[in-house]
Parts: sequence; C-alpha cells; structure tokens
Amino acid sequence: MTEPTAELGLRNDVYRRPLATALERLGLGADWKCADVGAGGGDVTVALAEMVGGTGRIYAVDNDPASRDAVAAAAARGSLAQVIAITQAAEDLTLPEPVDLAFCRFLLMHVIDPVTVLRRMARAVRPGGWVVAQEAITSAGRVDGAAFSMPGARHPDVGALLPALFRRAGLDLVDAWAEAPAGAGLGPVAAYLESLTGVDPGEDSVILPPLVTVIGRRPGA
Ligand SMILES: C[S@@+](CC[C@H](N)C(=O)[O-])C[C@H]1O[C@@H](n2cnc3c(N)ncnc32)[C@H](O)[C@@H]1O
Repeated sequence: MTEPTAELGLRNDVYRRPLATALERLGLGADWKCADVGAGGGDVTVALAEMVGGTGRIYAVDNDPASRDAVAAAAARGSLAQVIAITQAAEDLTLPEPVDLAFCRFLLMHVIDPVTVLRRMARAVRPGGWVVAQEAITSAGRVDGAAFSMPGARHPDVGALLPALFRRAGLDLVDAWAEAPAGAGLGPVAAYLESLTGVDPGEDSVILPPLVTVIGRRPGA
C-alpha cells in the first residue's frame, strides 16, 4: 500500500490509515492536480503534495485566512512549491484549472449545506475526475462506553449520510467504507482525544468517531 510520506501530525497519526487507503485506492501519484477543500492546517495538503511531487499541483482552499498562512508555512517547511493556498468558501469553490481530485476531510460537518459543497467539488474536477470526502459519525465514537458529541458542528454525524449525499450531488459512487481508530491507555488515540477535549481518558476504552470515506467520480470521462 502507498503511504503518504509527509510528516503528518497528530490527526493524521490516528486517522492516517483511511487517508492512505483512499489515496492508494485512487492511484494518486506524480503530476496529479488536486484541491484540498477546508484545508485547515494543511495536514492533508502536505500529504497530497508529497505524493504528486513537484510536477503536480495542490490547491489548498479554506475560508479562514489563517489557514492560508498555516498551509503556506507548512508547504515552505517541506519545500513544496506545488502548493497554492487560497482563501475561498467551499460554497464558491472556483479554481484556476480543472483538477483530477477534489478532497475534503472534516469539512462537511461544518458547512451549512454539504450537498452544495459536494456539487462545487464535482464541478471543480475534470470529467471523470475524483471527489473524495472523509467525514465522521461523531455520535458513534465512545469513551468508556459513552457517546461522543460535538455541539459546535452543524452536522456532527454527516459521515452516516455521505454515500447518499454524493449521489444527490450528481457523482457516481465508486467506493465507501468506515474506519474507527481505537485504543486504551497511553498512545496516539488517548493523546488525540485529550487534544480535542482537554480530558485524559486514562485507561478507559476509546473508540474515536468512525471516519466514513466516500470515493466518487464525476460522470463523463
Ligand atoms: C476541522 S478542520 C479540518 C482541516 C483539515 N481538512 C484536516 O482534516 O486536518 C475544518 C476546516 O474547514 C474550514 N471550513 C469550515 N467551513 C468552511 C467553508 N464553508 N468553506 C471553506 N472552508 C471551511 C475551517 O476553516 C477549518 O479550517
């Protein structure tokens, strides 16, 4: 399996397997042009940039201007000149050129209408191009048997709806699956939970929210 070679950080440490699986399933490689929508600090952007190399291009899009600075700094640290950071709302997604892949992770849970964003992502890729989303089913996560919640998110369980949302956005459904990192005691799962909540779960069992990955394709290759 192809593994992203970038320094991926904590979130990618616990959720890196679904990312690596999705990118391997796509055959992502040299020269690809991609968009990382809702790029945040650029964890996924950097992983994509490492895999497409200097002849590829990654547009890192986020509506928070602070993300552009963070992504630009991360790209500069890795000498990744193929990264172009853009401040733009996903609902208005407009890129300078059609891309092979539009990717988002932990984005649709925050937007007003996930289907509107998926439609914009579908329009941003070339005919036959790929749209991939990785979103959580927050309430399916458990700490010591108790369900997670995320009151700040508009759609904390959007992962559970994702395959149908792709179809509503006019995308062909190619693959879909869910994975949940789990652990107990010291380790990346407990550290990740503590970074989110400020609470150390100690020896309790932690099942992080399952991440649903959907791979879709724009019709018309
Ligand atoms: C939880 S972070 C995820 C960051 C990154 N995708 C990752 O997986 O590490 C969500 C990001 O989506 C961005 N965001 C939220 N709503 C957005 C919108 N409507 N358009 C573009 N970006 C948005 C936020 O600014 C934030 O950077």
